[in-house]
Amino acid sequence: MNFHQMRDKDLRKEAKKRGLRGYSSLNKAQLIQYLATEVHPLGQISKTTAASEKQIQAAPSEAVGRSPKSSDTTLESLPVNQILSGDCLNILPSFPDGVFDCCIADPPFNMSKKKGLGWAFSSHVTMQEGWDIFSKDEYFQFTLDWVTEVLRVLKPNGNIFVFGSFHSIFTLGFILQSIFDRRIITQIVWYKPNAQPNITCRMFTESTEFIIWAVNNESKKAKNWAFNYRRMKAMNNNKQMRNMWEIPLIKPSERKYGKHPSQKPLAVVERLILAGTNEGDLVLAPFAGTGTTGVVASKHNRRWVMIEKEEAYTQIAKKRLDESFAEQANNIE
Ligand SMILES: C[S@@+](CC[C@H](N)C(=O)[O-])C[C@H]1O[C@@H](n2cnc3c(N)ncnc32)[C@H](O)[C@@H]1O
Repeated sequence: MNFHQMRDKDLRKEAKKRGLRGYSSLNKAQLIQYLATEVHPLGQISKTTAASEKQIQAAPSEAVGRSPKSSDTTLESLPVNQILSGDCLNILPSFPDGVFDCCIADPPFNMSKKKGLGWAFSSHVTMQEGWDIFSKDEYFQFTLDWVTEVLRVLKPNGNIFVFGSFHSIFTLGFILQSIFDRRIITQIVWYKPNAQPNITCRMFTESTEFIIWAVNNESKKAKNWAFNYRRMKAMNNNKQMRNMWEIPLIKPSERKYGKHPSQKPLAVVERLILAGTNEGDLVLAPFAGTGTTGVVASKHNRRWVMIEKEEAYTQIAKKRLDESFAEQANNIE
């Protein structure tokens, strides 16, 4: 059923037919969201279905306030410093509640086209990855599902950093801010001074990505989140670090084990790890790609768990991790 093509009147009929409550004051966009997720867009959960029960468990008032203490036994059951092959929507439910200190999520942006655009002046072709293609409704549901799980496995007041572009960032922000009422600390703008030129010449050259920094607690209750202010200042010539980071695209040396269309530079992830985690912290990367988060986390004595669906990228990640472990071992000797 394509809700976007339905008239307002028919959407209301459908909501009534499904027994959803509290829809009369919603506008069309909210109604579509309600029908797609069966979670009330203004926070009231009005029908108990398998999906909404999952939401109830992760709803702000339930998830927050519990202070899960991760005992050694709990941690022993986790694949610490391992990359797991598979779909994070299948793997995350096997993790206990409230065990991770931080999550760095670099999910699909839903920006790929079935056939990417290229031009005569370079070999660059825009993204055309199967794992990055969703309908609008599918993308909303996928995002809601993984965010629900990530918030469950993250400690209260743990940091979550989520990458996105204009294709995805509004969906991500809406889910974190309006559905889960998580505290949004800020958005970081990663400015790429050497971004690829625009091929269509119908818009500005895309040269930024955003990183939402949110805290896993209701916006009014969030407190004591990790932020290494002094370290950030020291990295910025002893001036306060701004939320606009000028960092060039990935260096060829970071791709020596194979290419990934949206691999992040080590320098971007390093800044997140150093700003938002402390030594010994446990960091989750549910969309590992080539393992950038694990490489940086290991270098800075953080522990990590990563998940990646595509075997080819898992193999690149393993090679990068082996190299980084070897470098660290050499440094210790
Ligand atoms: C934007 S890329 C991450 C790139 C990564 N930050 C890096 O530096 O290499 C997103 C990754 O998520 C993976 N992916 C997509 N859907 C997934 C899912 N449901 N579970 C696990 N991994 C998934 C894709 O294969 C892709 O490698």
